[in-house]
Amino acid sequence: DPLSPQYLYPLPSTFYPLPPIVKLLFVCLGNICRSPAAENIMNHLAAEAGISSQIECDSAGTANYHSGNPPDRRMQAAATNRNIPMSGSARQFTKSDFTVFDLILAMDRENYANILALDPQGQYRDKVKLMCDFATQHPDREVPDPYYGGVEGFDYVIDLLTDACGGLLAHLKSTDFKNT
Ligand code: 4NP
Repeated sequence: DPLSPQYLYPLPSTFYPLPPIVKLLFVCLGNICRSPAAENIMNHLAAEAGISSQIECDSAGTANYHSGNPPDRRMQAAATNRNIPMSGSARQFTKSDFTVFDLILAMDRENYANILALDPQGQYRDKVKLMCDFATQHPDREVPDPYYGGVEGFDYVIDLLTDACGGLLAHLKSTDFKNT
């Protein structure tokens, strides 16, 4: 196969210095509203900025009630209204995510506490941040759970996450896509 790695890259990989790829995991409770929105907004902003090859995004929930489910229809509608395509299938956060990802972005303080509870030794604590720490245009410290509210709550989450994802992207660019 002429496209196999041995033909494309005949020398050892150290001869092909690739730009660093930062791996981001967005986490909420159910992984059907806020965190899939964050994942898809981040991918959208990275594509617009021409840096998709330097960022990998995924999302997870601290709970497993919705595992396997697509993003909530109301969140899909709110994202579509902003021209952001939404894809994904819910899964639960696991301990192995601590080693796979460089940065873990919690949507609210409860998610943050539930994530850190799985790291009793605190060895991964510095990888876990509150998503709103990167927002520059909103005073919120947490991304509000829109699940039991009306459409305006979903629109608000999209706008807040677009702000926070933009701030996170600027932060990653400023650190040359190295971890945090
Ligand atoms: P998310 O929203 O954490 O942003 O995905 C929720 C989804 C489902 C539930 C709560 C919040 N629930 O209770 O089923």
